[in-house]
Amino acid sequence: MKKVFKWIGIVLGGLVGLVVVAALVLTVLGSLKVDGRYPTDVSGIAIPTGAEAIARGKHLVEAVSLCGDCHGPNLGGNVLLNDPKLAVLAAPNLTNGQGGVGAAYTDADFVRSIRQGVRPDGSPLFIMPSNYYAHYSDEDLGAIIAYIRSVEPVDNLIPKRQTGILGRILIGAGMFPTNMPEMLKASGAGPSQVASGETKEYGEYISYVAACRDCHGPNFAGNIPSSQAPYGPNLTPSGELARWTEADFLTAFHTGQTPTGRTLSDDMPWKKYGQMTDMELKALWAYLSSLQPLPTNPTR
Ligand code: HEC
Ligand code: HEC
Repeated sequence: MKKVFKWIGIVLGGLVGLVVVAALVLTVLGSLKVDGRYPTDVSGIAIPTGAEAIARGKHLVEAVSLCGDCHGPNLGGNVLLNDPKLAVLAAPNLTNGQGGVGAAYTDADFVRSIRQGVRPDGSPLFIMPSNYYAHYSDEDLGAIIAYIRSVEPVDNLIPKRQTGILGRILIGAGMFPTNMPEMLKASGAGPSQVASGETKEYGEYISYVAACRDCHGPNFAGNIPSSQAPYGPNLTPSGELARWTEADFLTAFHTGQTPTGRTLSDDMPWKKYGQMTDMELKALWAYLSSLQPLPTNPTR
């Protein structure tokens, strides 16, 4: 009997040991990513100054990329996660006010952060969707930076990022959406050169910078299980949209009403996206209609 207990003890001890070793390995892997430095090569872009460009930047920030959802409606910063064991993470104050990056950031610093997801010191930005914003054309990105520079300064000191042990383990295991520089390199995304218009090409551009794929899946066939974002349905022509017209699509964005009389939930940010121009919405429709009909992605 005693022997049995001894063996159970050895096996349990071994298992605990394995878990500890695995946790240590994951912590080290996670820390390499968190504390890593990522070389970047930013080319300068022209930052416009006119009222028209600033209005364009405001439109992209508020109706297309919804930067305020994370950075706060006045771009004054916003704490997203405050759990020291996991992580303390804020979307920074982008303005010129106290605690904001605006005063210290050069134009190139803004370009690097937005397009490449990397701070001026080379550290990676977590959660910031640079994988989508890497598609921004020079012209639109210039307008966004011009707009950020024009907003009312907000005094708001935001906490420095901290990554707790649990956060490092999850990052080491690839279970926390963090590492933009790596993801970006893998995606090969780069600045768009597409002319604006009611074309599927321009619609594809908007679909990237508006981050539709976050909820509707990378191939638009419905969100995928590993995504942290709400479940958005299949938008390829094998889904519900096959029975919609372009006018139905615009109505859904303007009123939240679908052709079957359903009101879209607020998980779909239609109220904000509904401020897109008809040209942008028609381009999105042209793009979604041009997709291969795909079977809906498995949900879990
Ligand atoms: C899904 C949430 C989210 C959205 C949407 C978002 N950001 Fe961010 N952004 C973040 C987070 C979080 C950080 C800080 C990451 C960190 O500290 O690791 C960040 C960092 C930044 C930084 C770097 C600031 C610094 O401290 O160095 C800039 C600049 C920035 N964002 C601009 C933008 C702009 C412009 C948009 C819209 C085009 C935008 N962000 C949209 C979450 C977001
Ligand atoms: C934050 C997550 C999220 C983002 C980002 C998002 N969607 Fe959605 N979307 C949803 C959800 C959730 C639904 C389902 C809403 C419902 O049925 O109440 C939805 C529904 C829709 C529908 C209705 C489809 C149907 O079958 O009824 C359309 C069209 C749509 N989204 C288009 C888009 C486009 C285009 C973009 C980018 C500009 C986008 N969505 C970005 C979450 C999102």
